[in-house]
Amino acid sequence: MQIREPDEGDFAGLAALILRIYDEIPFATTFSARPSTEELESIMRKKLDGMRGRTVADLIAIDNGQVIADCEIAKTTDAGGMIGIIVDKAHRGKGLGRRLVERCADKARLFKMLEVYAEVDDRNEGAARFFSRCGFREQEGEESLVLIRHL
Ligand SMILES: CC(C)(COP(=O)(O)OP(=O)(O)OC[C@H]1O[C@@H](n2cnc3c(N)ncnc32)[C@H](O)[C@@H]1OP(=O)(O)O)[C@@H](O)C(=O)NCCC(=O)NCCS
Repeated sequence: MQIREPDEGDFAGLAALILRIYDEIPFATTFSARPSTEELESIMRKKLDGMRGRTVADLIAIDNGQVIADCEIAKTTDAGGMIGIIVDKAHRGKGLGRRLVERCADKARLFKMLEVYAEVDDRNEGAARFFSRCGFREQEGEESLVLIRHL
């Protein structure tokens, strides 16, 4: 398995991964409806632009030529970023999510981010547990479940 930054050649693989996760657990994503190809392309262009501008830290995992995971930390405030992570069902529970969070956090630190937030849907208890195991702590006073980790 390889962990590296995505490039334009990964668009199709990343789009397919996002759609597999959407079809499995729609509320684990930020989409209110199944995203179109155009929407996915625009998200990926934004990701690559952010990586070039050092406002987005992103890593994907490749196994047998297939994109099986993606972790992004996108700068949302002066010193903070929002994390999004997806790991293909068949590859969960083996420490890949944690490895990606740690590697992405290292990059985010280089991009001058001091803390990272995770916004988790109430129904997504597994993700809340995952972030808590990765050192995130629940933030008080938020309407939705927001977890924070200092970098
Ligand atoms: C959440 C997700 C990224 C976890 O990835 P993963 O590769 O399975 O996680 P890891 O194997 O690295 O697990 C790290 C730790 O979290 C725990 N954990 C992971 N998923 C868990 C779950 N569903 N329930 C309880 N604990 C969980 C593991 O037990 C492990 O704990 P440890 O400290 O005892 O070792 C993955 O389940 C996923 O992609 N889910 C769908 C998308 C999603 O919900 N993303 C988050 C959106 S906010």
